[in-house]
Amino acid sequence: MKKQLILKDEPSLIIENEYNKHADVVLFPGNCLDLLKTIPDNSIQLVVTSPPYNIGKAYEKRTSLDRYLAEQEKVIGECVRVLSEKGSLCWQVGNHIKKDGIVPLDIALYPILKKFNLKLRNRIIWHFEHGLHCSKRFSGRYETICWFTKSDRYFFNLDPVRIPQKYPSKKYFKGPKAGQLSCNPLGKNPGDLWIIPNVKHNHVEKTIHPCQFPVELIERLILSLTNPGNYVLDPFMGVGTTAVASILNKRKSIGAEIVPEYLKIAKERINLAYQGRLRIRPMNQPVYDPNKPQKNRTNLYTSYNQFGDSEELPLFPQFNFHNKEDLIHA
Ligand SMILES: C[S@@+](CC[C@H](N)C(=O)[O-])C[C@H]1O[C@@H](n2cnc3c(N)ncnc32)[C@H](O)[C@@H]1O
Repeated sequence: MKKQLILKDEPSLIIENEYNKHADVVLFPGNCLDLLKTIPDNSIQLVVTSPPYNIGKAYEKRTSLDRYLAEQEKVIGECVRVLSEKGSLCWQVGNHIKKDGIVPLDIALYPILKKFNLKLRNRIIWHFEHGLHCSKRFSGRYETICWFTKSDRYFFNLDPVRIPQKYPSKKYFKGPKAGQLSCNPLGKNPGDLWIIPNVKHNHVEKTIHPCQFPVELIERLILSLTNPGNYVLDPFMGVGTTAVASILNKRKSIGAEIVPEYLKIAKERINLAYQGRLRIRPMNQPVYDPNKPQKNRTNLYTSYNQFGDSEELPLFPQFNFHNKEDLIHA
């Protein structure tokens, strides 16, 4: 079969399982370090990822914090090598949780990221409403995205990610600009506090992965930090949300994942996204308001972890990922 690139608006998508500069998507089944060493220097415009947090999730073994940070350093070093001079690296993290306290991973990782001479442009707070209900501390309702650039000559395009102005028709009432609009008609800068629902239970994008990105979170980064046709790399790919957001916006995507089942789901989601058939929560959709009529909620039960923290989980998941119909826009 003739292979064609999505970026030329052709009907087929080239998905490879190892690095190949002609692929639209690379889904590497294995350790990201093995994938990274095959990628040329300075070839990637955006690295965006959420690494394991070393908290004992289904896909990770808990290890000492020092060992965890040493492993992260190896991956970050390779990501910096493959990053282009105008490129960006976004490391999305929360807390490593121990009995004797929490360790905010961005604080622990910052000295490592600085060792590679990266420049921090924003520490974005991603706020969401759902998660563990803590009984001995306040429940965690934010994580961070540390946006670094490799140089001062970085690419940044605000226009595609502007959000509506509060008072779009407000005008200067005196001075030389009197009568002209006082705010940008294209919208305002979204700022560094992003309120975007996390992917839990009833979120339309939910798969079997315990902590996947919402597509809209990654779309905002892709649209502002890359151009169509650029490469976006996610070394810890999970169920392929970064690739989905890339394909939806005509960027090429490369990622690695060690759990074969996640990779299989990633491939299905990417193909559905390419066909315009993947259910996603659109960017800038207002956050659910409990004062407005409520949609049917699933039955929930409460599960507790070893620290006594609880979480509500669905008894009967509303979306069974393996039923294709559930993935498609109604
Ligand atoms: C926090 S999750 C990322 C989820 C992803 N953002 C998504 O939207 O699906 C981290 C993922 O990294 C994978 N992983 C852990 N160590 C890895 C490694 N050395 N190489 C590649 N993937 C790894 C885990 O299996 C897990 O799916």
